Amino acid sequence: MSWNWSVCVVLLAALTLCHAGPDPHAKPNLNPIQTDPPVFVRQTENAKLYTVGKGDDIINVLHLWGNPYERGFAHGTIMKEEASAMMKAVWGYFEKEIIDAVNSTVPGFFKEWFLKDVANLGLDVALDLEKAATKPYTPQYFYDEIQGLADGAGVDVKIIERIHLIGELTKGSCSMYGAWGKAVPLPNSVMQLRALDWASDGPFQNYPQLTVYHIDDSNATNGHSFVNIGWSGWVGSITGMSSTQMAISEIGVAYPDDTFGKESRFGFPFTFLLRDILQFDNTLDDSINRIANAHRTCDLILGVGDGKLNTFRGIEYSAEVSYFFDDINMRPVAEWHPKIENVVYWGMDWLDPGYSSVLGRQLQKYHGNITAENTIRDIVSIVQTGDLHIAVYDLTKNIMYVANARKDNAGGPKNAYDRPFIRVDAKKLFDEHKPTV
Ligand SMILES: *[C@@H]1O[C@H](CO)[C@@H](O)[C@H](O)[C@H]1NC(C)=O
Ligand SMILES: *[C@@H]1O[C@H](CO)[C@@H](O)[C@H](O)[C@H]1NC(C)=O
Ligand SMILES: *[C@@H]1O[C@H](CO)[C@@H](O)[C@H](O)[C@H]1NC(C)=O
Repeated sequence: MSWNWSVCVVLLAALTLCHAGPDPHAKPNLNPIQTDPPVFVRQTENAKLYTVGKGDDIINVLHLWGNPYERGFAHGTIMKEEASAMMKAVWGYFEKEIIDAVNSTVPGFFKEWFLKDVANLGLDVALDLEKAATKPYTPQYFYDEIQGLADGAGVDVKIIERIHLIGELTKGSCSMYGAWGKAVPLPNSVMQLRALDWASDGPFQNYPQLTVYHIDDSNATNGHSFVNIGWSGWVGSITGMSSTQMAISEIGVAYPDDTFGKESRFGFPFTFLLRDILQFDNTLDDSINRIANAHRTCDLILGVGDGKLNTFRGIEYSAEVSYFFDDINMRPVAEWHPKIENVVYWGMDWLDPGYSSVLGRQLQKYHGNITAENTIRDIVSIVQTGDLHIAVYDLTKNIMYVANARKDNAGGPKNAYDRPFIRVDAKKLFDEHKPTV
């Protein structure tokens, strides 16, 4: 986030650390967890829409069937109003952030190299260059789904393609943990956190959507069903869980160390790589192989949990390297990032003593009893991480707990970590039947 950046300072010539941290007086989140089952709204040939949550915290749950084009078309058709409004609003936000950033010296939402391209070449050319840099590495089914979405929603396909490059072009500072074994109350279980701190002043919080992809797995090459936690009109993945009891976490790295090497813009957008993990990987080993062999681009930390093996790995991810971490070899090694048995974690960035140390402290406080309830009440709220959305995944029980930032004109606190969480039974989502219309 831009405010986080502006207070990050250079501490040593060779090592830049982020120097922000949570408010020491942060309050626990005492909202009751909402547990009502999904409420049916409407259906079409390849889609069914439900909602979960109450009052100001309603989230759409969209089920999709069919081939990639059909899924996109069904998404665009049944969510026409929301998806086209979301895309218009994101495009407007995109343009405004770029104009502000190009005209000012304060670093903000977009990466510097992209702003330089925009300043030198104009926005259209800069975005066309980025598409050209990623298209050769992107499987056709993403483009097919986006075309279906454009046709269904009546939105220019180019706008939707460009919005889906946003992950490569912007900065985010998020948090994650994976906890298993001695860290959790049930020894054969795994808990995972994904807290998204990104663009909470944009339009995203107004269009939250759990998109459930029902994949015909009679042909193994199709993959399997998964739920993508994002927004109406969005088909990339940054947060989600699969029917093979696996889930993803992701942190954008603004403060790497020299082990990351150089970034590249030529490769596979990470929001599509994360989605392939959800759709195609059967075990954590599949994801490790996928990540190790991918044409990687920008600096990230990824997290992948597996509720069948009851374990989790954090990944240092860049164009040059991929390193896989458990609780023994976790990096960076620093006083402010202590190793915790059967836990892997990062707060907001790679080198972020302020947030990582508070996340580590709260995880130690609940070590042996890291549950969804304790994470919601006393971890994310105290670390103040997850301003836009949060998923706490109980991979062993197939349950996820989701919170979203305050929508425009809604009441209550602004940040997702202070708002009511909604309990969602992922297994029931995957069991939903295709409509017969
Ligand atoms: C910078 O701001 C001016 C108005 O203050 C605007 O006309 C111009 O287009 C902006 N520059 C860019 C590159 O957007
Ligand atoms: C499975 O799906 C792939 C890709 O959609 C296709 O090429 C292949 O022929 C299918 N296999 C069978 C046995 O239907
Ligand atoms: C563990 O946390 C739960 C809340 O998730 C609480 O009800 C329980 O008392 C805690 N157990 C211990 C041993 O602290």
